[in-house]
Amino acid sequence: MAAPAKPNLIENLATEEKKKHYTAYIFDKIYHRYDFITVFLSYGMDQGWKRKLIQMMNLRGDEKVLDLACGTGDITFAEGAVLPSGQAIGLDITHGMLKIAEAKRQSLNIQNVSYNRADIMHMPYPDNTFDAVTGGYALRNVPNLKGAIQEIKRVLKPGGKVYSLDFGHPDNKLYGWAYLQYLTVVGSLTGILLHGDADTYRYIPETLKRYPGQRGVQKMLEDAGFVDCGYHEFMGGIMAINWGKKP
Ligand SMILES: C[S@@+](CC[C@H](N)C(=O)[O-])C[C@H]1O[C@@H](n2cnc3c(N)ncnc32)[C@H](O)[C@@H]1O
Repeated sequence: MAAPAKPNLIENLATEEKKKHYTAYIFDKIYHRYDFITVFLSYGMDQGWKRKLIQMMNLRGDEKVLDLACGTGDITFAEGAVLPSGQAIGLDITHGMLKIAEAKRQSLNIQNVSYNRADIMHMPYPDNTFDAVTGGYALRNVPNLKGAIQEIKRVLKPGGKVYSLDFGHPDNKLYGWAYLQYLTVVGSLTGILLHGDADTYRYIPETLKRYPGQRGVQKMLEDAGFVDCGYHEFMGGIMAINWGKKP
């Protein structure tokens, strides 16, 4: 993909259309390093947060589950492993991410996991299709969060649940501010070292600043008509899992 119109990250996130274009550019640039960078930037904790998400889903084993922004497939595979008579579908927009996910699936010979290349904002599924929808670092990346939540609600069956893991905003404002500064410094340095471009991972704190976090996402889920909503925080709220149920 061609480089976006620079000059700066703030401008590249300024409108829905620009964010959509820039997000596609960023993930197309980093997909081959995604697994490494996720472990590196989370100090290896990401796997534990994802395990917690799978535990919270409390699946019976026969459900049909959709994993949004599946990337290289961590969460989708973990879902497949607890769905002996069910099915997990990973959805992502970045071809390179799905290529890696599919290669892993084939090498592990996993039968109940498949992938679709699509946009969260316009999913290629009929209404009321899934028992659960998950997303790992999905909602912070979409160009229009309200629209994404509506789309999630549309594809969930009545009684179906959504679980979203993403960066959060701690209740303690000073801690939240310090963590954003930390992410900005570490993200910029990592971006320069790996890609010669500080914006590549400064994208994370900049999108986090524009993301409502766990309390904001809960309110948006409730406003969209989800019930039994809540969130679980990690590390004082810098990371969180949101959930809600379609009535
Ligand atoms: C940070 S990665 C998360 C990967 C994986 N879920 C995980 O937890 O490690 C974010 C993913 O969102 C995908 N993405 C961003 N915007 C999207 C959209 N509108 N529709 C579908 N996928 C999208 C990107 O391609 C990327 O793979």
